[in-house]
Amino acid sequence: MAIVKEKLAHLWERDPNDFYVEPYECSRSLFRLEAFEGLIWDPACGLGRIVVEARAAGFVAIGSDIIKRSELCELRSDFLSRSFRPEFSNIVMNPPFGLAEEFVREAIDIVPNGGKVAAILPLVWLSGFSTKRDWLPLSPLKTVYPISPRPSMPPGRVIEAGIRPGNGTKDFSWLVWQKGYSSPPTVVFMNTNEGRKSKKNLGGRSASTKQRSGVE
Ligand SMILES: C[S@@+](CC[C@H](N)C(=O)[O-])C[C@H]1O[C@@H](n2cnc3c(N)ncnc32)[C@H](O)[C@@H]1O
Repeated sequence: MAIVKEKLAHLWERDPNDFYVEPYECSRSLFRLEAFEGLIWDPACGLGRIVVEARAAGFVAIGSDIIKRSELCELRSDFLSRSFRPEFSNIVMNPPFGLAEEFVREAIDIVPNGGKVAAILPLVWLSGFSTKRDWLPLSPLKTVYPISPRPSMPPGRVIEAGIRPGNGTKDFSWLVWQKGYSSPPTVVFMNTNEGRKSKKNLGGRSASTKQRSGVE
């Protein structure tokens, strides 16, 4: 029993490359709500869930990662080393937590004009902008999608061991930048159950109707 417990605890230890896996429905909902033109590249593709959902939604998508974890990873490459750059139009990613800031800034830097960068990030990213993330208000942030219900993002080891993750405890959102965009960002509530369950509409707008936010 103690050995089993020890093994299970090991599965949940922090992954050295921040290999945590988001539920499929996060990217499924993004591709339902956000339009993309041209090739989508996930430079931290892990098991390739973003690539799978992008392709299922009819987009052309490829993945790379510093470690080849699945057949959906076309190439092993360190995104921050600038060693591999496909002919891409957009980047969609769940970046490694510890390098998320570097990944996002690099992606916005290299995405072609009009192209989009979408990253799934802790919702807390939106605060603290006056201290550690002062570049954010000046960035071409176009849309914020707070995700509900909270997604669970267990280490890849847990998924690979066939364990079904429970409920998430941390708030996440998709942040979408568009190179050249200069108006205030919009908030769009993303219910990842939408399309599966139909919920009673309490009047007004549908859950995916865009609303102007006070976020500037
Ligand atoms: C949060 S996970 C992405 C999970 C992925 N969406 C999936 O479907 O499994 C982050 C990924 O970034 C990769 N990674 C970490 N550092 C990297 C780097 N410098 N360049 C490219 N990939 C990196 C990790 O190997 C890991 O697979």
